[in-house]
Amino acid sequence: MTTKKNIETGIIVALDENNGIGHDGDLLCHLPNDLKHFKEVTSGHTVIMGRKTYESLPKGALPNRTNVVITADSADKYPGCIVARSVDEALTYSKEGEKIFIIGGGQLYRTTLELVDWLYLTRIHHTFNNADTFFPKIEFEEWTLIQKEEHDVDDRHQYPYTFLTYRRK
Ligand SMILES: NC(=O)c1ccc[n+]([C@@H]2O[C@H](COP(=O)([O-])OP(=O)(O)OC[C@H]3O[C@@H](n4cnc5c(N)ncnc54)[C@H](OP(=O)(O)O)[C@@H]3O)[C@@H](O)[C@H]2O)c1
Repeated sequence: MTTKKNIETGIIVALDENNGIGHDGDLLCHLPNDLKHFKEVTSGHTVIMGRKTYESLPKGALPNRTNVVITADSADKYPGCIVARSVDEALTYSKEGEKIFIIGGGQLYRTTLELVDWLYLTRIHHTFNNADTFFPKIEFEEWTLIQKEEHDVDDRHQYPYTFLTYRRK
């Protein structure tokens, strides 16, 4: 999907081998390099998130990004964010020159995977048995792999992981 303003859209997500993305309102594990990657990819752009993902952010709205939260809830509970009632409404808030990134969670990914132009996946090479939130099935034949960067376990990263960038065919 490219919006009316011709802005490109992407999903960014860290998912395990079983497409698990969350547990009990939080991420499945802490990978500092993935947080750095997330910041590098999304800074200076618009991020759209579901209400539960907003609630999971330790410091609220993300700096240096236009933050849009989708919720039916009262708008004044989300400081630093624009509140939208639907995906369509959220997409209207991107600014000229900014890309749009859907940053989760599971419910929002399910309604936007069919729409976006780009996928930024961090594949965590592990299966978390406690995952309770999942990314939808990806039909990889619909996507072209543009970039791949593999990382091993190290002192700060308990699991190996791979950054993968896909463009819709
Ligand atoms: N691994 C990752 O990369 C990653 C990224 C983000 C989040 N997560 C994890 O995912 C989990 C949260 O995901 P979740 O699926 O439970 O919740 P979510 O998608 O973050 O939020 C769900 C709420 O957002 C609103 N919403 C979402 N999609 C909507 C739509 N299409 N139309 C209208 N409203 C919509 C609704 O808010 P109201 O009920 O207020 O109306 C809904 O209850 C957490 O565990 C979080 O840590 C993981």
